[in-house]
Amino acid sequence: MNSPPAATPFSLAWQALAEHAALLRPRHLRELFAEAPDRFLALSLTLSGKEGSLLLDFSKQRITAETLSLLHNLARAAAVESWRDRMAAGETINHTEGRAAMHMALRAKEGNSAIAREVASNLARMKALCAALHSRQWRGMSGEYITDVVNLGIGGSDLGPRMATRALAAFQHPDIRVHFAANIDGADLAPLLARLNPRSTFFIVTSKTFTTEETITNARAARDWLSAHLPGGESEKTLLARHFIAVTSNRAAAETFGIPSGQIFTFSDWAGGRFSLWSPVGLAIALATGFSNFEALLAGAHALDQHFLTAPLPENLPITLALMYVWNVNFIGAASHAIIPYSQSLELFPAYLQQLEMESLGKSVDRQGLPLAHKSCPIIWGSPGTLGQHSFSQLLHQGGQPIPCDFILLEHADFPLPGHHARLVANALAQSAALAFGQTLAEAKAADIPDSLLPYRVFPGNQPSTTLLLERLTPYTLGQLLALYEHKVFAVGALWNLNIFDQWGVELGKNMAKKLQPFLEAEAHLSDNDGLDASTRGLIAAFTK
Ligand code: F6P
Repeated sequence: MNSPPAATPFSLAWQALAEHAALLRPRHLRELFAEAPDRFLALSLTLSGKEGSLLLDFSKQRITAETLSLLHNLARAAAVESWRDRMAAGETINHTEGRAAMHMALRAKEGNSAIAREVASNLARMKALCAALHSRQWRGMSGEYITDVVNLGIGGSDLGPRMATRALAAFQHPDIRVHFAANIDGADLAPLLARLNPRSTFFIVTSKTFTTEETITNARAARDWLSAHLPGGESEKTLLARHFIAVTSNRAAAETFGIPSGQIFTFSDWAGGRFSLWSPVGLAIALATGFSNFEALLAGAHALDQHFLTAPLPENLPITLALMYVWNVNFIGAASHAIIPYSQSLELFPAYLQQLEMESLGKSVDRQGLPLAHKSCPIIWGSPGTLGQHSFSQLLHQGGQPIPCDFILLEHADFPLPGHHARLVANALAQSAALAFGQTLAEAKAADIPDSLLPYRVFPGNQPSTTLLLERLTPYTLGQLLALYEHKVFAVGALWNLNIFDQWGVELGKNMAKKLQPFLEAEAHLSDNDGLDASTRGLIAAFTK
């Protein structure tokens, strides 16, 4: 019989939480609020900033002051703050790829290191490109100024820029329209090209590796589209020079594609894809909103970085969010986590977080290469409120499973209409309260509901949620929000002893697709020794019949 592993401060802290969770489990949020009138004050944090305050209300989480204290012990035992400081110091904490994780340097705008010089140089080039396009100084092949920019990228080369551009709809530059195409499915790029003028369209090929099949295939299609529509006799080199730039860590591949070296923005590989919108990957954001707004986005994230790096554990917003997350997954048993921004401009925020969270935390092997002894990343999903109330909220209220929700609200609407914003916020607060406190059988009876229908009108409640209240949605506050979640993910990774910066899990599917492609282009024929499984072979036969 193997002796149990020696107790460590972490395993002891974890065990204490497990025992505490068993005692707390039967208790309802109704009781927890009834016994502590000052619960909201005790379990909320406010970060005051240059553009107003950011309020984090976690009082509707199924915790008590004791829970929070035990969670802080876990964070200390996991050395979350030490890992944070090691990341900030540029240590090679992404040990499976031998890289540092320096996304904070992308928005630091200080220091005289080689990194700071690279960041400053890239920002200057981004500013110059924005000025050239916004001033209409940059001209296409036929001498026309640029009216439309298309970002060709996927994953971290798409989700962040697309989400931020959408979120900052109230800050759109009037003279340029920015579009995004990511999928290799022609249904993404083809309809977009069909409505654009090739003479005034500019492409940003955004790919850290410059080998991602979807992006390179789309870039070739864009180049062919331009060639087919532009005046004859012009060389492809000139065409690429006037209508393409590349954003990548792989300069050689971009030059091989034909993009002039003066139009290649390179960034170092210490900025992970899902952490890269602060780098030239964010060019689409700068072109869509103006460079000064992109700088404000960086400034907001930088301010949150300073908070993360200096705030004591109990006042640290990212670490608090991380502790709630771990409590819900590992001690309440939540298998999914809903992101519900009551802001239509943040409609792409759940999709962006899906990559940030699930590509960072969707792992089951720890930093030592050992299997995790507990669950890791929940399914991240969501959509803006109030839309969710008319699609998935039935499950949240009466589905019988714990699904923590993050509600994100704005004090001031970014697109005000008389009477709309108060109604929107009323719905958000009502959902959060109804999920937490529900409706008992007695309350249903008091509402004169027929006995036969009573079982359907009981709302168990006790569904945990966190509410984030921003004063406004601006480039600065968006920067704060995104950095808050980046650092939450980092802190969760430290608590789970994971390397959040690699993503080996995406490789197998990509490699298998390369093997199957010839069969689907009928260049290779199915045979008994093609090594394919019966299902894949059957589907290929049906597809190519
Ligand atoms: O999804 C896998 C991944 O490598 C992401 O991490 C990355 O953001 C995306 O593909 C795109 O990669 P690239 O920017 O190199 O094209």
